[in-house]
Amino acid sequence: MAICPTESVVVSGLDYGKDFFPLPEVKIEPKPFYDLISTRRAVRNFTDREVEAEKLEDIVNAISFSPPGFPPLKFELIVVNSKSVMKESLPLMVDLYDSLLKALGNPIKRHFIKREVGKRRFLTMQRHLVPSLKRSLPGLREGSEDTITRGAPAMILLLSRKGEEEISADIHIAAAYGMLSAHSLGLGASIMDIIPPAINNKRELRALFGLSDDQEVVSSIIVGYPRHRFQRGISRKMKSVQWVG
Ligand SMILES: Cc1cc2nc3c(=O)[nH]c(=O)nc-3n(C[C@H](O)[C@H](O)[C@H](O)COP(=O)(O)O)c2cc1C
Repeated sequence: MAICPTESVVVSGLDYGKDFFPLPEVKIEPKPFYDLISTRRAVRNFTDREVEAEKLEDIVNAISFSPPGFPPLKFELIVVNSKSVMKESLPLMVDLYDSLLKALGNPIKRHFIKREVGKRRFLTMQRHLVPSLKRSLPGLREGSEDTITRGAPAMILLLSRKGEEEISADIHIAAAYGMLSAHSLGLGASIMDIIPPAINNKRELRALFGLSDDQEVVSSIIVGYPRHRFQRGISRKMKSVQWVG
């Protein structure tokens, strides 16, 4: 149906009006795409300006174009557009990470945490999360810094259902679409891996963001108006590129 110019092909269960839309007559050029991806940066410093609901809707719409491994899209979104809810969530996240850091100092608890998160995620925790928490927790506790929600006025949570099929790859691709969409709208955004475990493991946070018992947050994107304008991009080298043929 997607390639029939006269809408003559009919597939049961699919509807030309509901399930498709006409493609615009645009020539897709590489330069605008390159400009978009090369100017995007992780934005973690925001102005006080609230994000218009329409812009968040545009991001949701962009996310709906992300490709699922097996259609349909199975992840769910929670759009948080409230500075006060974001603010309220921070001390709860700090509590959770405070307890986690303490638990990691106990060999028995550490063993069970490692078993629960798996070897590779545990390695990431040891290399990145623990050193960063050790540095930032004092400031987080006394409210003088925010390395978790980063004072963002808005956030999009991407969720899956516990016990359902594995859709993490779909969600990470979707989060990248969301981040790029935010950038295209003049907003700043960053994926934040530090946020989902806090929400998933703290009852008060689950309630605050309206998660049902079988939902879990897989990824999160903080969104807002950037406080700073980047003057330079970063040239990154691939670890390795091997050509065959
Ligand atoms: C999957 C993923 C998870 C991330 N999680 C965090 C996070 O928890 N905290 C944070 O400050 N930044 C986080 N970031 C932002 C990265 O640190 C950032 O993308 C990286 O430093 C590269 O900078 P750039 O996005 O400006 O190119 C995350 C980025 C990605 C892609």
